[in-house]
Amino acid sequence: MKLSYPSKVYLNGEWLKPEAAKISVFDRGFLFGDGIYEVIPFYCGKLFLLKEHLERLRYSLKEVELKCDISDFEALILKAIDLAELNKDDGAIYIQVSRGMAPRTHYFPESYDATVLMYAYKTNLRGFQDQFKDVVVSNDLRWHRCDIKSVSLMANILANTEAKKGGFAENIMIRDGFFTEGSHSSLFFVKNDTVYTHPNGKFILPGITRNLLIKLCKDNDIEIVEKGLPVSALDEVTEVFITGTTTQITAIKNLHFPDKIVHFGDEIGKVTKRLQQLFSEEVKNQTGVDID
Ligand code: PDD
Repeated sequence: MKLSYPSKVYLNGEWLKPEAAKISVFDRGFLFGDGIYEVIPFYCGKLFLLKEHLERLRYSLKEVELKCDISDFEALILKAIDLAELNKDDGAIYIQVSRGMAPRTHYFPESYDATVLMYAYKTNLRGFQDQFKDVVVSNDLRWHRCDIKSVSLMANILANTEAKKGGFAENIMIRDGFFTEGSHSSLFFVKNDTVYTHPNGKFILPGITRNLLIKLCKDNDIEIVEKGLPVSALDEVTEVFITGTTTQITAIKNLHFPDKIVHFGDEIGKVTKRLQQLFSEEVKNQTGVDID
């Protein structure tokens, strides 16, 4: 899909053309990456898991002590879709809150006006059921608060750029011998018909799609264990998939290590397929949109 800028963005109370939207060079988001963000999907203009995304946004703000009133965000999100004329399209909302402008100090000031950026953009959310991708394995060089959706993403972007250069769909990361997650996706394994995913905590983002999948497993008698998979257990794994707001549920065909490739069959596994189907049903139930 061709990348482009949105036609309108919301910045600190105004809807502007992107070229007219300006922030200070002293914005702490620019100087320090002192900010958090959120990405919320919509199908045919209908928001999916909005409440859960706003809850995580509140969590990120709280964890970094960033003061920002988000009581009007829901209305702004709806307006963003409207202004972008995406009421009949699939897409996502990008929201970023930074700690605003202040003379540069490592500690943050007591008083500041948060900078709020928001826009809707069109993206392809169809056909994930047919994707069967190769990913590369990389070291997890991120900090110890991956549960915060921070805009400081240097470790993620360096690893993902290497993946992109190698022609891979994503990089999945290893910390201390255990798989954690992707640079911008959550990670699942299937072993003996049981689904494994790293537990929430400081080493992964509590993915909204991940959390939905766990619920779908529980509601449909699919065994799910929230436990990190050691790299040494990979031999017993029969299926791998990644999840995320724009990734949805994407099956993984090959894991590329520096010295070997681990293959997961020529067809998408049955547990992955079942979860994709349950996910599509959930989208249909919540938005009325059929994505099958
Ligand atoms: N990324 N893990 C990481 C590190 C992520 O950045 C993301 C999402 C996920 C999946 O979370 P969710 O299901 O809530 O989208 C897991 C977003 C989409 C991004 O950075 O653009």
